[in-house]
Amino acid sequence: MGSAVTRRSFLRAVGIAGGAGVLFETMGALGLAPTAADAAGRPFVPPSRADFALSGRKAPKVVILGGGIAGLATAYELGKAGYDCRILEAKNRPGGRNWTVRGGTVERELGGYEQRATFAPGLYLNAGPARIAQFMLTLDYCRELGVAIEPFVNQNADAYVYYQNAGPMSDVRTTDRAVKADTYGYISELLAKATTQGALDAELSADDKDRLMAFLEDFGALTRTGGEWRYTGTDRRGYSVLPDAADHPGTVLGPPPSLHNVLASQLGRNLSFELGWDQAMMMFQPIGGMDRIPYALADRIGGHRIEYQAEVLEVTDQPDAVHVRYRDAKGRQRMAQGDYCVATLPAYLMARVPNNLGAAVKAALEYPTRVHVGKLGLEYRRRWWEEDDRIYGGITNTDLDISQIWYPSHGYHGKGGVLLGYYTQGPGTDAFDRMSPADRIKHALAQGVKIHGPKYAKEVVSAFAVAWDRIPHIETGWVAWPSWTSGQYDLLNQPHGRVYFAGEWLTRFMGWQAGAFLSARYVVSEIHQRALATPR
Ligand code: ALA
Repeated sequence: MGSAVTRRSFLRAVGIAGGAGVLFETMGALGLAPTAADAAGRPFVPPSRADFALSGRKAPKVVILGGGIAGLATAYELGKAGYDCRILEAKNRPGGRNWTVRGGTVERELGGYEQRATFAPGLYLNAGPARIAQFMLTLDYCRELGVAIEPFVNQNADAYVYYQNAGPMSDVRTTDRAVKADTYGYISELLAKATTQGALDAELSADDKDRLMAFLEDFGALTRTGGEWRYTGTDRRGYSVLPDAADHPGTVLGPPPSLHNVLASQLGRNLSFELGWDQAMMMFQPIGGMDRIPYALADRIGGHRIEYQAEVLEVTDQPDAVHVRYRDAKGRQRMAQGDYCVATLPAYLMARVPNNLGAAVKAALEYPTRVHVGKLGLEYRRRWWEEDDRIYGGITNTDLDISQIWYPSHGYHGKGGVLLGYYTQGPGTDAFDRMSPADRIKHALAQGVKIHGPKYAKEVVSAFAVAWDRIPHIETGWVAWPSWTSGQYDLLNQPHGRVYFAGEWLTRFMGWQAGAFLSARYVVSEIHQRALATPR
């Protein structure tokens, strides 16, 4: 493109010459409106039976350690080409961290506490993954597997904001919509002042200033009083008395807190969340629970290929095969053998499994740090958050140690529901994990009462408190790499003899189920290329 041709005139020229379709595709190539296909990265071609039929090879045997999403997706994709896959899963269910707690779910934590969920039929808690962004590979698998989806409400203007430590506005319950109206309003007012007083003259032409002022007036709902643009409140904050018929215009909620109080209270501290590339609406969830995905995968793979309650004891890589020693459900030691092994156990658990892969691999497996994660499900017979608070899905944010309250994005107007009573994550959030489940619940209810009042504790009928650090065979929410470039990440993304590692922790989609799918696809492609290149 010649320097005299601006981007816009170039696009206009392409549009004239080639029609709207060409214009659109060209915009994609320039990064303005990338198509999903442009963004999808590495292409993936699932292995197929024809690949082996044409080459006269026999499909290899693969032992897969772990029946979480990475392990299941590996078996599912390799299975398309007739690979003889066998999954050894230590728990008595598929899915790993993709775990939906329902009535009847029983879990004994490390440390001995046992919980039994008694949620009413149809109610559930997605204890692990709970939301899927539109661009995530997870949705492609939902489509392929016939797992029906529905919107997950990740942001709700009518959900609450409650900060205990918020300077002048401590302990004041407000709504997400009011926080937005006030924060955006005052920021717009300040920027309008700077613009009209000439502080931005070096940056802006006269036309730019006019356009910026038009934007700020609209964005901040500014009004002009005494020649100055001011934020004085708006119906975007909501109403204290709703508009009604005839001569009832309603009463706008107000007055807004002062500029000082909004800033001093840091009310806008969470407003960027909904702008997040991976957290912005629209988001989705499977209808009926996130574990519809692992169960659909397990179904396609075939029950005879998955051995539950099979605990891996030792992995030995040999020149011609991989040998896996494990303990079966009856406590007997057994051997499994494969041409390849895909180890999808969490890194720190794999590091404990005796193997002959060398000291560098062991050190690399020990390198990522664990992130504490806890989630609490609270069952109510009455959907008071809908009836009383008019909150249909979404998230209340708080600086209390419960961090968030999630309202269910399904079952609206139903008989009961399960709220998420806390979602703790990250350093220093393991206080809940150290309590007994009964204490976790008691503490979280007392915190929730500060936001929702006494009904929060009074009307609860059952609860289930998940401390991921204490869930056997998983032992953490997810991990973090202190460095991506210090060698360990790359080392584990390579095969070691006939052993491959897979999991979301080996992708740039850490802490997302989509990462497990991506990692599985990567390893599947590597194994398939190797299998087809191996002399017969
Ligand atoms: N992916 C995790 C979440 O959305 C971290 O909460």
